[in-house]
Order: sequence, then C-alpha cells, then structure tokens
Amino acid sequence: MTSSTTNTYSPNIYLIDELEIAGKIIFMRLDFNVPLSTDGAGERHIEDDTRIQEALPTIQYAIKKGARLVLASHLGRPDGKKIAEFSLEPVAKRLAVLLNQEVTLTDDCVGEGIELMAKNLKNGQVMLLENLRFHAGEEANDPEFAKQLARIGDVYITDAFGTAHRKHASTYGVPSLMQIKGMGFLIAKELKFIDPLLHHPAKPFVAIMGGSKVTDKIKTLESLMRQVDKLLIGGAMAHAFWAAQGDTIPEGAKQPKSSDVEAAKSLMRDAKRREMPLIVPSDTNQGFDIGPKTVQKFIQECQGAKTIFWNGPLGWFEKPEYAKGTFEVARALAEIKALKIVGGGDTVSAIKASGAADHYDHLSTGGGAVLEYLEGNGLPGIDVLKYLRKRPEMSHEA
Ligand code: 3PG
Repeated sequence: MTSSTTNTYSPNIYLIDELEIAGKIIFMRLDFNVPLSTDGAGERHIEDDTRIQEALPTIQYAIKKGARLVLASHLGRPDGKKIAEFSLEPVAKRLAVLLNQEVTLTDDCVGEGIELMAKNLKNGQVMLLENLRFHAGEEANDPEFAKQLARIGDVYITDAFGTAHRKHASTYGVPSLMQIKGMGFLIAKELKFIDPLLHHPAKPFVAIMGGSKVTDKIKTLESLMRQVDKLLIGGAMAHAFWAAQGDTIPEGAKQPKSSDVEAAKSLMRDAKRREMPLIVPSDTNQGFDIGPKTVQKFIQECQGAKTIFWNGPLGWFEKPEYAKGTFEVARALAEIKALKIVGGGDTVSAIKASGAADHYDHLSTGGGAVLEYLEGNGLPGIDVLKYLRKRPEMSHEA
C-alpha cells in the first residue's frame, strides 16, 4: 500500500493511488451516461462528453501504472433489454480518441468470453464492457449477476459519482463481493467540494434551488436549511411557494400539485422557525422565467456570500425567451468571490450556456447523486467502499 496525497476527505476509503494496481485487472465502474443525439443517417453523437473527460485522470493514472483496465458503465434506461440505440459504441470511440489508444468494446458485459478477454489484456490495455443495463440483474442488484461481474477483475475502482446513489449490481453488489476496492480521483474531487456543504461551509452560505418539483428535492432542502443562511427559490418550483402563500400562478404556467404546495408550506414554516430568509420570486416572465426584479434581488442576496450552491435552472432556459433570468444570475455570480458549486445536469448545461462556467469552482457530474448526498445519509456506491477498523491485506505481487 502506498499513501495518497489527495485522499483527505474520506480517510476510510482507499483512493486509487493508495492501491497496488500494476498488472492487476481493474474492474472500473464509471458513469458514461452522456447525452446523445441521432442524426438523419441514424448515427449517434455525444452532445456533451464532460463525464468522459472527468473520468480521464483515473483511467490515465491506471494505464500509466500498468493496470489492465475493464471499464463498465450504463447508458440510458434500456430496462434489461439489448437495444442498439443504448450501445456504448459512441463512448468507446470517443474514449479511444481521448486516450489516444485502442479501446475494445465487448458485445456483452458478463460471461466466460468476457472473463477470458479480461485475462488476456496486457498491462495498460483498455476494454469497455457493453451497457450494464442490457441485463435486468444490474438495476435489480441481482446477486448472481454481481458475482459474474466481480469474477472479471482483481481490484474494484469506482469513479461513477453520478450513479453512486443507485444500489445496483455494479455500484453496490460487486464492491460488496470484492476485497480490494477504492475510489478514483473524480469521486475524491466531488467529495472535496460537496461534503463541506453539509458540515462546515464557509459562511455566509446561500443556496439557490430551481427546477420543477418541490417534493423531489424536499429532503435535500430540509437538510440544506440546517446549514444555509439564505435560500433562494426559482424555476417552476417557485409556483408551489406562491400557492403556499396564497398568490395566483400566471395563466398557462405550470400549476403545482397539492403535494408540492404542502411541501412548500412545510419548508416555509421551517424557515420561519429558523429565522432564515427563504426568498421566492416577486415577479415572473409569464411563469416560465424569473422577472427582472427577482434577478436583481437574487444577485443582491448573493453579494457577500462565501459559499454558493446552485441546483436547478431558474426558468425554461432552453427557450431563448425564458433564459434571461438564469443567464443573468449565472453571469453576475461569476463576479462574486465565493466558492461556487453547481449540481445537476440541467443546471450545469445552463451555466455553460451562459458562458460563465469558467468562473465556477465546481460543476458536479452528479444530478440525483448530489441531491441525495446533501440529504446527509451518504451514498450506497461510496459507503460500500469503506473499510472498518483493519484495512484489508494488500497483495504486492504484480
Ligand atoms: C444520471 O445521469 O443521473 C446517472 O447516470 C444515473 O442514471 P439513472 O437516473 O438512469 O439511474
């Protein structure tokens, strides 16, 4: 075992650079669930390869150390069926370009043939297993399927932060079975930024929450309210808060469900009890974006913050006529000298589209995973890596 210089946030989880991996077959779980589009000729194209780019440091480290790499991921939700449009082929092609080496895509992810291919890998070679979710056993965390996957590698590494909230075979069953396991550099980086939000954020701490449903985020909101100094609410979610305070929702805009209104009422009571400002939009652009007064208010409320966490766009930013609120706030926050952390696929896309992304400290690769982490109960795909009391014996032979 070697000691890591970067593993300061999870001292009871190995970081890949603490493990002896030369010559070992690494089963590496990554989140290559990237957005794809299909052109007129039926060819699929990767729209945003951030998740692949973010996995590169761990993959390249393992290659450099002479490990034999078996990469595994899901793509979309094929529900246990082998469907060509969910093949990881575009990912394999992009990876080969980014790594500047061959990446073999297998035609399945389990079986004797796959195990043999893994055994035949030379040090530094990479193969990518076909979509794990072509087997129903993946999402069901089927013990037999997990055993088949676990047989492929000697060491388990996960860098699939975006999938760490899923208790599936490859994220939970396999690491439960494998003795030598750890995380990659991406998970370490995600934890470095996100974990302090729960425990010791630099104050004042402002959270901006948007998106559509309050009920989807209520546990995260309840947990965040224990730490934040202010909570700003935007997006269609704000409609539930308007309804909760007796305001009318503009005609044609999304009407909140009664469960969302009840959740909003409960959060407002909680905020009042804590004497914590919970700020909802005071004006709107037809119910699809925050209005100019709210934009100014949100910017002003963020001035002086030391930490800002943002999840959920403030309006329907994909439509140019409703993008202004999100983009103006994004650009103004870029000028504020706070630690700025963004979570959620749509929010990250919105910040990137605003042109201000370079001024943010951390754009998380997780959506649901960030929200669940902030609920404060850990994530199964990370907790399963923890070792208790005694570290497992490491074999040093290559
Ligand atoms: C994501 O994109 O949030 C992760 O890859 C998890 O995907 P899932 O929601 O289909 O489990």
